[in-house]
Amino acid sequence: MIKRLARNRNLSDGELKTLIETGDYDAEMFKAADSVRRSVYGADVYIRGLIEFTNYCKNDCYYCGIRHGNTNAKRYRLDLGQIFSCAEQGYELGFRTFVLQGGEDPYYTDDMICEIVSGIKRRHGDCAVTLSIGERSEKSFRAYWASGADRYLLRHETSDGAHYRMLHPDSMSLENRKACLWNLKKIGYQVGSGFMVDSPYQTTENIIADLRFLQELQPSMIGIGPYITHADTPFRNFPSGSAEKCIRLVAILRLMFPYALIPATTALGTIAPDGRERGLSAGANVVMPNLSPTSVRKYYLLYDNKICTGDEAAECRNCLDVRVRLAGYKVVIGRGDAKTYEHGDVAV
Ligand code: 5AD
Ligand code: FES
Repeated sequence: MIKRLARNRNLSDGELKTLIETGDYDAEMFKAADSVRRSVYGADVYIRGLIEFTNYCKNDCYYCGIRHGNTNAKRYRLDLGQIFSCAEQGYELGFRTFVLQGGEDPYYTDDMICEIVSGIKRRHGDCAVTLSIGERSEKSFRAYWASGADRYLLRHETSDGAHYRMLHPDSMSLENRKACLWNLKKIGYQVGSGFMVDSPYQTTENIIADLRFLQELQPSMIGIGPYITHADTPFRNFPSGSAEKCIRLVAILRLMFPYALIPATTALGTIAPDGRERGLSAGANVVMPNLSPTSVRKYYLLYDNKICTGDEAAECRNCLDVRVRLAGYKVVIGRGDAKTYEHGDVAV
């Protein structure tokens, strides 16, 4: 079954269900995923400098610690100077992709976002800029693109309408989220999507639907991480997700999407101390350490017990270098764009 998954980049729903729910194929599957990742990306691991520039958010997603309704969250915004200095520091540390991530915060107008993007591109012409600022209009997406943005991360969270409504208030819709993703693709962005593993009410069928949606979207980046409970949300009594299942899904994704950029996420490193390393061994090829100033890091908490909130950017950079090396891979300095078919086909 694993050989067939590697060859066809696909399986039936029933077969996927078996892979997701049982650990029976894990060893074989992780090995196959690693060999596919090595045939496309070698041992290279791409790093992205994450700048969490605002934790204000107008939305109220039930799972998220920076939801509007969480009055316990201490809010902050970085000004343009602070953002540029994060990027500068990141550049010195070898980052060539900056991810600007924030809650949905209308304080930052389109003009401001454009100024941030073009400011970074002007200062660091050899870098890629990724935006991760939620749902915006097609017109806004076009303006950011015109100012130099290269990539956009917007997880679809769940591709099942009923499940989506269990995770979000009525003001949000799966239709709009999907429309955003298609707009971003149409404009020319390298698009990233993804979902949480073990989010409340999630079924295996939901996950299979997520995989099917990704097959349709064909994103350049796919980010997944375990759901982790935040005590100040309506989901405070739901358990956090499983590292094992998340890693298993990383491997499935690598086999279904040989060319995708798949991060070993901070959430995976939070739920298990060796989560990111295990993610890398199962097919992940990206890590996204934090570049935000240490003074605000502890406030960008989507979930409890987030790692690295006390560490300086340089500490995370060194730590990751060691971790990646010990896991059998190497951090490379470069934009780390997705490879495509032209770079050579996958050997299976
Ligand atoms: N646990 C894990 N991941 C979360 N995210 C938001 N809240 C949580 C949580 N409690 C994820 C969402 C979002 C991304 C930035 O972080 O998938 O898209
Ligand atoms: Fe931040 Fe290890 S990655 S301390």
